[in-house]
Amino acid sequence: MNVLVTGGAGYIGSHTVKELRKVGHQPIALDDLREGHEAALLGAPLVRAAVQDRATVEKVLREECVEAVMHFAAYCYVGESVRSPLAYYENNVLGTLRLAEACVAAGVRLFVLSSSAAVYGEPDRQPIDEETPCRPVNPYGRTKRVAEELLADVAAATGLRPVFLRYFNAAGADPDGELGEDHRVETHLIPCALLAALGRRPALSVFGADYPTQDGSCVRDFVHVTDLADAHVLALEFARAGGSCRAFNLGNGRGFSVKEVADAARRISGVDFPVALEGRRPGDPPVLVASSQRARAELGWRPRHGDLEEVVRTAWEWFRAHPNGYC
Ligand code: UFG
Repeated sequence: MNVLVTGGAGYIGSHTVKELRKVGHQPIALDDLREGHEAALLGAPLVRAAVQDRATVEKVLREECVEAVMHFAAYCYVGESVRSPLAYYENNVLGTLRLAEACVAAGVRLFVLSSSAAVYGEPDRQPIDEETPCRPVNPYGRTKRVAEELLADVAAATGLRPVFLRYFNAAGADPDGELGEDHRVETHLIPCALLAALGRRPALSVFGADYPTQDGSCVRDFVHVTDLADAHVLALEFARAGGSCRAFNLGNGRGFSVKEVADAARRISGVDFPVALEGRRPGDPPVLVASSQRARAELGWRPRHGDLEEVVRTAWEWFRAHPNGYC
């Protein structure tokens, strides 16, 4: 299939472009390169445009005979979304709306949306399954939830068949070493720990040591980026077989605390970098662990890199080989 991948030059998008090519699809990345890196496409075709540029998107969908869209292009920082909600609604909600318009106009039906565990907010039951009520607690989570609902409404009125993939904590890097994480501003735990190991940061800050968890730090479910890429390919098959408006949680079902991750990063890097205990970061739920039973049962998803050691090791290999990212 010819697949338009918005945000294809970004972290998860680029790993998915690589996976799509591996299994014989033909991805076309659409990325304005504000956040993405052309080098991350490894030669796959790029249309340099914003997802809000409806005319360009519609033209590409028609001219390239695109059959499916994977929509990654979005802002993804919780803290930034609290400070700049309008930018988040503009990019994440209006971007999805313009893309949906173009899909309907061009007759593209298959649609996979990058969604997030952030749609659940702070549920009191773990692990989190898809029946858990969606009560996002920050603008980022709300924009993802609105995007899902918008697409479900469009699906009810047209032939669009959207699938919603709710990632837990995306982490790790391409096991072949060709791709990795290179964000404008890095705030995610594993990269921050590894940058401390490389001496690029003075220490790793641990935000909060007084949570009601085994060691007082937050607990997260880390899912390898290549396993997320696999799930996108499977979601495409699910939509092609008639699936529509179904949400799938993507995680490994095992929680690791921030302190455990710091220990793993020290062990794998061999660097005993300093850790600074700090206050809680606003908006952080204490525990987020996925039940991905539905993805396993209905998509046939089998994470191949579910082990935390492997997640941290592949990320470490990337950061060690590319201390300045794609530059
Ligand atoms: N953390 C630290 N120190 C750091 C960075 C993070 O202690 O330097 C902690 C955070 O406070 C949090 C945990 O590590 O407790 C994980 O933080 P990340 O920033 O790595 O990830 P989040 O869980 O905040 O966010 C991720 C995705 C979001 C998504 C969210 C779903 O990055 O896009 O999961 O809840 F919205």
